[in-house]
Parts: sequence; structure tokens; C-alpha cells
Amino acid sequence: MAIRTVRTVGDRVLEKKCRDVKEMTPKIAELIDDMFDTMYENNGVGLAAPQVGVLKRIIVVDTGDDPRVLINPVIVESDGTQTGDEGCLSNPGKFGKVTRPNHVIVEGLDRDMQPVRMEGEGLLARDFCHEIDHLDGHMYMELVEGEIYDVNDMEDEEEESES
Ligand code: NI
Repeated sequence: MAIRTVRTVGDRVLEKKCRDVKEMTPKIAELIDDMFDTMYENNGVGLAAPQVGVLKRIIVVDTGDDPRVLINPVIVESDGTQTGDEGCLSNPGKFGKVTRPNHVIVEGLDRDMQPVRMEGEGLLARDFCHEIDHLDGHMYMELVEGEIYDVNDMEDEEEESES
């Protein structure tokens, strides 16, 4: 297990479309472990493989005490809306208001390459959408309503999370 370097805005790897994972290998298992380490080290609530420079469709999320990995994730249902501050470890210290579905159902594979279906509401729904966007080379800044601001200008930064 190791902490990997998080790629930041301007790195072209963040703009590319990722490829599906066809089979689990020791290298991919290690990547997943490293993604969790890297997310926790940076106090993030989610991380997508391209953020550590790997163009594979893998995300990890943890909005509390519930670590999850999803391989080849697809949003199959979404409803409701939520508008709130969103940040990203690849654009450190910045936040902006983004509207996302309030509820999503995501299908993909677990680390044993078995099909899984997960449900997310509120922050977890936002997290799934944000991370899956990364897999297609998209970042939240494209969706920000109004200005992107610096965390130092915020009143209650404790509530903010980056992914
Ligand atoms: Ni992000």
C-alpha cells in the first residue's frame, strides 16, 4: 500500500476517457489499495483512478465509515436535485456550487469483479456523480454555478469535502 501523487488541474490525464477494467490483476488490486490510502491521506471523500494517473474505470468513495470501490461504474437511475458546494483533490482548496441528482443508483463490479448495485443519497450521490465524471475526463468546475472560490474565503470550511 502506498500513497500516490494526486494529479491536478492542467495535467492532461484528467481530461481523458478511461478504459473499462476487464479482469482483476495484482496490479489493479494494488492500485485500489493505493487509491484508498491516497484518498484518506488527503482527507478526501472519493477518488477516481485518473486522479492518480491511471486511465481505468475505477472509483473509491467513503463519505463516512463506509469505504466502497466500484469498477466500471454506471449510473442507472437518478432522481431529485441538490445544490451544494463541491471540491476536488485535483483542484485543491477550491470550491463551487454544483447541482447534482439527490439520489442515484449505480451499477458496476466489486473488487472480486462481481456485479454490484449501490444506492447513494445526498453527499454519497454527489460523490458517485463527481467520481464517475472523472472517468470521462470531466471535472466539477465545468458545472459550477457562479464563482469558484478559495476555501480560505469560506465561513464554515469544516463542512466541505473534496473528491
Ligand atoms: Ni474530483
